[in-house]
Amino acid sequence: MHILFKHIKELVQVRKEFISFVSGKEMSVLPTIKNAFLVVEDGRIANYGTMETCPEIAFDEVIDATGKMILPSWCDAHSHIVYAGSREGEFVDRINGLTYEAIAQKGGGILNSAKMLNETTEEELYEQSKLRLEEVMRLGTGAIEIKSGYGLTIEGELKMLRVIQRLKTNYPIAIEATFLGAHAVPANFNDNKAGYLQLLTDELIPKVAAEKLASYIDVFCETGYFTLEDTALILATGKKYGLIPKIHVNQFTAIGGVQVGVEYNALSVDHLEEMRMEDIEVLKGTKTMPVALPSCSYFLGIPYTPARLMIDSGLPLALATDYNPGSSPSGNMNFVVATACIKMKMTPEEAINAATINGAYAMGLENETGSITIGKRANLIMTKNINSYAFIPYSFGSLQIDKVYLKGIEVN
Ligand code: NIG
Ligand code: FE
Repeated sequence: MHILFKHIKELVQVRKEFISFVSGKEMSVLPTIKNAFLVVEDGRIANYGTMETCPEIAFDEVIDATGKMILPSWCDAHSHIVYAGSREGEFVDRINGLTYEAIAQKGGGILNSAKMLNETTEEELYEQSKLRLEEVMRLGTGAIEIKSGYGLTIEGELKMLRVIQRLKTNYPIAIEATFLGAHAVPANFNDNKAGYLQLLTDELIPKVAAEKLASYIDVFCETGYFTLEDTALILATGKKYGLIPKIHVNQFTAIGGVQVGVEYNALSVDHLEEMRMEDIEVLKGTKTMPVALPSCSYFLGIPYTPARLMIDSGLPLALATDYNPGSSPSGNMNFVVATACIKMKMTPEEAINAATINGAYAMGLENETGSITIGKRANLIMTKNINSYAFIPYSFGSLQIDKVYLKGIEVN
């Protein structure tokens, strides 16, 4: 298939060279071409430029994008979309005054989801999860990382990871899988965390690696969940089996988890609602991408990641949804980009960079997607008729997407 998009009002996030990510001041630069054309060949970006240089040859399909913008599709580097059931009961409990921590302490939270997941068949889990995947594709997401972590048993964790693999096979969206066995200590190991850690290091991690069910290893490094020592143990074991660290850290308390992430060369450190100067300092000059999850801050009413301070200190930043049943039951990257602008004072340029190329990097897909670059997947968002790309976050809550193309094929 040879497709031409012509008369594009503005082609956004055009990068001639392959880049890994943008940091600090570079985040405010978002290269674009006005009145542009774009050629897609066999699902990949094959050519682009201004309309004056548009090739006059025959194409299989010509799409007139007059008045519309084209951006690379969103890259959501942190999600938990494979889960069973939902937790709106806890949502109401929180409205009535209970905290997220208090709900977790009385057996709700992650353990509530784990109970539902272990009672759900693999087939049913796939059916529930695919609806969420289809939903985020329509919302413009073209690459997504999906974590396990609601099984907390050998069978439950493997079931989640197999569902992720099945989604990966059946859908055109790029998917990366992360093993998050260390998400919470399951109820049956309540007084025996060491036993659960041993199950993870001696049985589950080797199995996950042998069956190639994940590329990344994650830990919920947090007071009341997994300590710095637990985190180091899981990351070290994961690395031994070829899994790359990406961790949940500094969500409620800053206890030095960012330092552990950097020490183990984590690809990303995610959440970061609580950041100390030393946490910002240790990230400088590293290849570890900080990832902010503004929907989680919004939904739980906790602080937003201090994006301004971090970017002004020269750090890169990626944005992701954290789509999960407890702290962010939404996978809408358009909302994430808008909230980053409105609540975290990121400019539209910074937020779009964070939600495309930097997000791609945070899941190891920067050579595949995240920018308009020849050779990358033709994962594209075509907007409605809008005046500028700043209208996307400005009109928060409204969807400015007309069509989404993944590997050059329209998503319905
Ligand atoms: O990223 N913080 C840890 N894990 C998830 C939420 C888990 C849940 O409440 O189900 C998160 O916010
Ligand atoms: Fe998460």
